[in-house]
Amino acid sequence: MTASPLRIAIVGMGGFAGEHHDAILRLETRGECRLVCTCDPAMDAFTERWDALRFAERGVRLFRDYRAMLAAFGDELDIVTIPTPVPLHAPMHRAACRRGLAVYLEKPPTLNYAELASMLRAEKLAPKLTNVGFNFIVEPPRRALKARLVAGEFGAVRAVRVFGRWPRGSTYYTRASWAGRLLLDGTLVLDSPMGNAMAHLAHNALYWAGDAPDAWAPITAERAELYRAHPIQGTDTLFVEAETAHGPIVRLAMTHACMGDARDYEDVVCDNAVLTTSMGWTPAAGQYRDFTIRWTDGREETERLAGFRHLDENFRAYFAYVREERPRPVTTLADCRPFVHLNDLAYLAAGRVSRIPDDALRHERHERLGAVLEIADIDAVMARFLESGAFPSTQEAPWAAPGGTATVKDLPRLADTVAAMVE
Ligand SMILES: NC(=O)c1ccc[n+]([C@@H]2O[C@H](COP(=O)([O-])OP(=O)(O)OC[C@H]3O[C@@H](n4cnc5c(N)ncnc54)[C@H](O)[C@@H]3O)[C@@H](O)[C@H]2O)c1
Repeated sequence: MTASPLRIAIVGMGGFAGEHHDAILRLETRGECRLVCTCDPAMDAFTERWDALRFAERGVRLFRDYRAMLAAFGDELDIVTIPTPVPLHAPMHRAACRRGLAVYLEKPPTLNYAELASMLRAEKLAPKLTNVGFNFIVEPPRRALKARLVAGEFGAVRAVRVFGRWPRGSTYYTRASWAGRLLLDGTLVLDSPMGNAMAHLAHNALYWAGDAPDAWAPITAERAELYRAHPIQGTDTLFVEAETAHGPIVRLAMTHACMGDARDYEDVVCDNAVLTTSMGWTPAAGQYRDFTIRWTDGREETERLAGFRHLDENFRAYFAYVREERPRPVTTLADCRPFVHLNDLAYLAAGRVSRIPDDALRHERHERLGAVLEIADIDAVMARFLESGAFPSTQEAPWAAPGGTATVKDLPRLADTVAAMVE
């Protein structure tokens, strides 16, 4: 590298912030960046990590408060990474933008359309666009397939279908005060499988449905049914069907109320082929992703992506943008508008989170996940919904209750609708 290393601050030490530290250290070793400072209100709880990350040797300055850190080092930084709880994103992002710094913000930027609008205003104070750390858009096979899709090689895109079953148990919902909540201290949280853990898959779906290489499809209308099996305020199982501005129907079925292996796939149904993206794991290859094209004439092509460090590659792509070697971040804040609308319209459309009765649930104790539970027949109900558009209530699942429809014009009702759900 000939350019001097980019100067970085990381807000946070634990949780996913720990992954930011590990990735930044790897990239620092390659001469691509240098960690100048970091902060966490519980900084003293991380003394073992200070040693493992060689903070003293690297000269990393430590703070408890991000505002004090930005005040002290704002002039000596290029990029701030913000991998903190979602409700903290907007104020931290605004503070970094005000200091004139480029921001790498973890996904989701926010789950509230109005807050996203204010973050887009704050971004104008910064010299560079913010990158939002949705993991998967950076994958080269995904980007190559999207380019072929937009060029029309597979014919018109008719539908995008996303299936996601990622088991989560009581430990997931008790790990943080905001987990599983719709509201916390009167503020919208909207934590859910689609809003948090599987937000990547929802953002991917809108990427496939977007009509240009770097476009995410705007949502026009949405139907949804939301359920809760875990004893939480929000939803852990959701069925969403969205109409998009350029045509494709986007359907998502996601649950944390399941047991056994995590599994997900994204299907893009076109006139001449179905494109499938799915994740797998082998002891030899570790986690991999297959990108498969199944042509209607019977031909099949598969490409496997393995050994790919998503966070490192997302940082490297943002570094390239900050260095003006790349025209745009992988995902900008504005690119997230369809995702945030998709999320908010699900609540407006469903109007409620229906509780799954105990007689439709199987319970187990899991060593790591704690109390886990599974909704009867959930995989089959999700697959039928994706295939046909039949919501659980029309499949006559005994636990189901009908939802409704919402359009983007309904967004201003979001706060009132969610407040009524909690009452
Ligand atoms: N890209 C991915 O694959 C991925 C994976 C997991 C989480 N995430 C995202 O990362 C973010 C953090 O999630 P998490 O589960 O790690 O959350 P978390 O609750 O574990 O918090 C992460 C860190 O932020 C710190 N923190 C809290 N308040 C702070 C403050 N005021 N100042 C500085 N640091 C503070 C916490 O102490 C913790 O160390 C979320 O946006 C989440 O969606 C992304």
